[in-house]
Amino acid sequence: MTINKTFLITGAATGLGRALAIKLAEQGYKLSLVDFNEEAGKETLALVKEKNAEAIFIKADVTNEENVKNYVEETVRAFGTIDYFANNAGMMIPLRLLHEYDINEYDRVMNVNLKGAFLGLKYVIPVMLQNNGGNIVNTVSSNSFKPTAYNGLYSATKHALAALTKSIGQDYQDLNIRAVGVAPNTMITNIAANAVHTLTEERMAKLVASTGPNIPATPEAIAEAVIFAATTGADLLNGTVVNCAGGQIFQ
Ligand SMILES: NC(=O)c1ccc[n+]([C@@H]2O[C@H](COP(=O)([O-])OP(=O)(O)OC[C@H]3O[C@@H](n4cnc5c(N)ncnc54)[C@H](O)[C@@H]3O)[C@@H](O)[C@H]2O)c1
Repeated sequence: MTINKTFLITGAATGLGRALAIKLAEQGYKLSLVDFNEEAGKETLALVKEKNAEAIFIKADVTNEENVKNYVEETVRAFGTIDYFANNAGMMIPLRLLHEYDINEYDRVMNVNLKGAFLGLKYVIPVMLQNNGGNIVNTVSSNSFKPTAYNGLYSATKHALAALTKSIGQDYQDLNIRAVGVAPNTMITNIAANAVHTLTEERMAKLVASTGPNIPATPEAIAEAVIFAATTGADLLNGTVVNCAGGQIFQ
């Protein structure tokens, strides 16, 4: 079964992006897979092709405006338009107290998680406007509600991306574009692998204490939430952030 709808996914090489791509392939979507990790991105491409998906992989660094322009243009060239956009690429930096961060770490996390997400929106939305609309899911975080300990800069990027989601919900309603934030809490991927090495035992205990009771999610489970938010749930959830923290209450 093929659905004549195109889903563009950034951060498609690993974790949530890959799980989402595989589920969408099973449902018959056309897929444009974007990542700067070419090797793992091509593995995702092979996995979705095994499911007979029509799919392309585009190598791009989401922080680079020319790369972003190019991934949008290549997607349109391949599939004609973009119906759904999973604005998902993201990263973490080592966990520290705010004053311990150096400016390079600040720039890196802001560039990927906020500027990269903004650039995606800046170039995808005009394509959607020409197509009479489209639906966007921004991967935000439980850190969009409340920072976990020693995670101030990452948390700032995810608060800001939640704000962009709400802005789209407010500003584009009559233009038929919807945006939803999907907020995993602890998702079982490798994103935090390089983030926790800075923590002493004492700080680790504080981090654990700042993460209330919740069920860690698989990327496959969060992918289901992204698909619902992008498709059948988009009208209802437009302009909101969906808390996927498995029992931890933030609002
Ligand atoms: N894992 C968690 O606990 C968790 C919790 C909340 C939110 N998130 C968010 O989920 C999203 C997906 O992360 P994940 O957990 O699947 O981790 P992941 O590291 O497996 O996936 C992130 C992907 O983004 C790509 N990426 C990073 N920087 C990029 C750049 N400059 N250009 C292009 N691609 C780039 C990586 O190569 C990778 O494929 C991120 O936005 C992350 O912030 C994760």
